[in-house]
Amino acid sequence: MITLGEFIVDKQDDFPEASGELTLLLGAIRLAAKVVNREINKAGIADIIGSTGVENVQGEVQQKMDLYANDKFKATIEARGEVCGIASEEEDEFICFDTERGRNSKYVILMDPLDGSSNIDVNVSVGTIFSIYKRTSPLGTPVQLEDFLQPGDKQVVAGYVVYGSSTMLVYTTGNGVHGFTCDPSLGVFYLSHENMQIPDNGSIYSINEGNYLKFPLGVKKYLKYCQEIDPPTNRPYTSRYIGSLVSDFHRNLLKGGIYMYPSTASAPKGKLRLLYECNPMAFLMEQAGGIALDGEKRIMEINPTELHQRIPFFCGSKNMVNDARLMLEEHGY
Ligand code: AHG
Ligand code: MN
Ligand code: MN
Repeated sequence: MITLGEFIVDKQDDFPEASGELTLLLGAIRLAAKVVNREINKAGIADIIGSTGVENVQGEVQQKMDLYANDKFKATIEARGEVCGIASEEEDEFICFDTERGRNSKYVILMDPLDGSSNIDVNVSVGTIFSIYKRTSPLGTPVQLEDFLQPGDKQVVAGYVVYGSSTMLVYTTGNGVHGFTCDPSLGVFYLSHENMQIPDNGSIYSINEGNYLKFPLGVKKYLKYCQEIDPPTNRPYTSRYIGSLVSDFHRNLLKGGIYMYPSTASAPKGKLRLLYECNPMAFLMEQAGGIALDGEKRIMEINPTELHQRIPFFCGSKNMVNDARLMLEEHGY
């Protein structure tokens, strides 16, 4: 059995200029994931379910667990000292590690510390999403906003942790997607899913259909297409929606499917965040042989303009996303 630590060290040579920093950084993420996992497992008896009553910069109510996960990831990553800054869904501004070590670090990390956090109160899977880039500002200086506003194509590492019926860490460095399952008795992540590939055709569609009336016409048409009876193409597809992007994505990655969070009449840019959610998931999806679009363009080609930018998101099995793309093109999205 290969552990996550062994696997990362083994693959270190995949990076042309590997110096061990990314290895240490992934180690920090692994450690924070274990700490957050421990708290999530006892959420019902620790006083960490429910909301704080405070809204984040995006106008969403923060859950106690959002803040706990944010603090743990931030502190663990800062302690390892391998990044010059962090941007988080739960922070208004990016955080600059303005120390000698921070100024001389090559990488920035962006994260959604707890994804699907409203599910925690009802014992449904949640996750953490992370994305790592090389800074563009000169080494030796404090990190700048521009270091975080890079297109997804520049990602060096992306991944997620799913705190589900088992806890898994899934990541890519651009050489395939690899999944590790945590053995809770030992607290060790073991390689369980090497080189994950999403089937080109699936039979699951995942969307919050409660918003149906607010969807653009192209999305409505595609949903009706998903529901049509046509056995040779596996239709009608099965509808599955957890409301935790990480969990919905993970299921579709393993089984084949399409995940959609389109624009709606009340949220014209959709809900998901380009930097913390869509880009890392797009990198993983493309590495697994799937597609991730904003409806038309590749997610990873978009030049971000602000930290908390939102974007419509269509992602999954190649043939399913291509079918959707044609309908969006014809009828609008
Ligand atoms: P977060 O908990 O980080 O704010 O993310 C919630 C996101 C995502 O996980 C999920 O797919 C989506 O919001 C669900 O939104 P709806 O409840 O609008 O369907
Ligand atoms: Mn999220
Ligand atoms: Mn979140």
